[in-house]
Amino acid sequence: MALYSEKVMDHFRNPRNVGEMPDANGVGEVGNAVCGDIMKIYLKIEDDLVKDVKFETFGCGSAIASSSMATELIKGKPLSDALSLTNKAVTEALDGLPPHKLHCSVLAEEAIRAAVKDYYDRTGTDYDPSLFPEEGSCAHSHDHGESDDAAFELDLPEDVKEQLAQIKAAQ
Ligand code: FES
Repeated sequence: MALYSEKVMDHFRNPRNVGEMPDANGVGEVGNAVCGDIMKIYLKIEDDLVKDVKFETFGCGSAIASSSMATELIKGKPLSDALSLTNKAVTEALDGLPPHKLHCSVLAEEAIRAAVKDYYDRTGTDYDPSLFPEEGSCAHSHDHGESDDAAFELDLPEDVKEQLAQIKAAQ
């Protein structure tokens, strides 16, 4: 059985909503202290709706697929939906991730939440601070899964392998 679902492979190979957003009004960046992967989410919020969302992820394939799916799940939705998006919802939408890759989807949840907090801070919106616990919950120890990453890459076309190698080299 394949280690990664078709949806994970699809969102990794063809990530949606990739790139910077110069006019974003909420930006969140989080990193995993253990694997060193970084995820940045840009939100364009208008009338309490997520009008647009983009991401940049310097991380593993699961992190890229998770960010892509997470942006699809919140695009056009009320801001409250973005705030309540869980890594579980992202993982389910991807038809699952291997257990040791679940933390990659946590990065997506945390980056979106950080971007919403940034929006609140920029606009002087009152919020409950308990909604935004101090960053670092993704810094728990985990197996980076080198061997599984290798298995993941075996399925990939050459150009995607090259992209992955470049991303890793840039870290
Ligand atoms: Fe670090 Fe996936 S986010 S291994």
